[in-house]
Amino acid sequence: MSEIRFDGRVAIITGAGGGLGKTYALMLAKRGAKVVVNDLGGKPDGTGASTSMADTTVKEIQEAGGEAVANYDSVSTSEGGKKITQCALDHFGRVDIVINNAGVLRDKTFAKLTPEELEIVLDVHLKGAFFVTQPAFAAMKENGYGRIVLTASAAGIFGNFGQTNYGAAKMGLVGLANVLALEGAKNNIKCNVIAPIAKTRMTEQLLGPLADAVMPEHVTPLVTYLVSEGCTLSRECFSVGGGRFARIFVGLTPGWFAGKGKVASAEDVRDHIDQIRNPEGYIIPDSIVQDMQALGAALKG
Ligand SMILES: NC(=O)c1ccc[n+]([C@@H]2O[C@H](COP(=O)([O-])OP(=O)(O)OC[C@H]3O[C@@H](n4cnc5c(N)ncnc54)[C@H](O)[C@@H]3O)[C@@H](O)[C@H]2O)c1
Repeated sequence: MSEIRFDGRVAIITGAGGGLGKTYALMLAKRGAKVVVNDLGGKPDGTGASTSMADTTVKEIQEAGGEAVANYDSVSTSEGGKKITQCALDHFGRVDIVINNAGVLRDKTFAKLTPEELEIVLDVHLKGAFFVTQPAFAAMKENGYGRIVLTASAAGIFGNFGQTNYGAAKMGLVGLANVLALEGAKNNIKCNVIAPIAKTRMTEQLLGPLADAVMPEHVTPLVTYLVSEGCTLSRECFSVGGGRFARIFVGLTPGWFAGKGKVASAEDVRDHIDQIRNPEGYIIPDSIVQDMQALGAALKG
């Protein structure tokens, strides 16, 4: 089989000064991509800033013979997002790939969560993906080509104690990807989501005994594949870590139909709740249309 290459391609990778993002930057550059290495260079809680993290990744890429430029803008403002895409256009003339990876943590139980702890997490993860991807998407549309990856988390998709802010932001990214994949389809722009598990500065205290088995490099191959030209998947989501790769999906059960024109009572719902919840025969809708079609079919009888 042929090697996956990125010659002539330009990639924006946010939060690429360390952890997972750095491995993507090194891998794509090694395979021929020109890389915008974005990183604000702050602490895991989002405080502080420095140029050293992005610079270190760029230096490593250049020493290995690759091409990269550092960018220190925050993803969390519209202005920052525009500057990141502009950096790619100014230095390399195009944008083919965006890997939204920048992230911060402010874990707190819901009852104690402050507005500030909610805002910074939504700003970096959810709004940040909008701010970075929107200008890049415009450039991709012009070229009729694009590959986008969004970084969600099992903490949102499946739930994790103490992470309502983070979980909501991460699940929001799944919604963003679902719609972006549909809007990008006619311009050959694919958008997929990963939910990684890896030992980084963000997680080393949280992973317990798993930590030493889950290196960031275990996640890199999936992301590399998802942003490659040969990958025609879109609107998909994957769990990835420690050498295991698995699909995550949202399914729709056949459910229970009350009958044409009938308004069910709360007792009817109670009495059919097992059938409503029964996953047997589920489908994986590829847009809202299939959900509507399933309803339409029930109404037709
Ligand atoms: N490591 C895991 O197990 C895991 C699990 C689920 C999701 N994630 C997600 O993966 C992504 C990468 O995380 P990581 O584990 O490599 O942690 P990390 O802390 O090493 O990487 C995050 C990077 O984002 C940068 N960053 C933070 N705020 C920024 C901003 N406003 N603008 C630009 N850059 C900013 C940081 O400086 C840092 O380099 C994050 O989105 C994280 O939520 C990680």
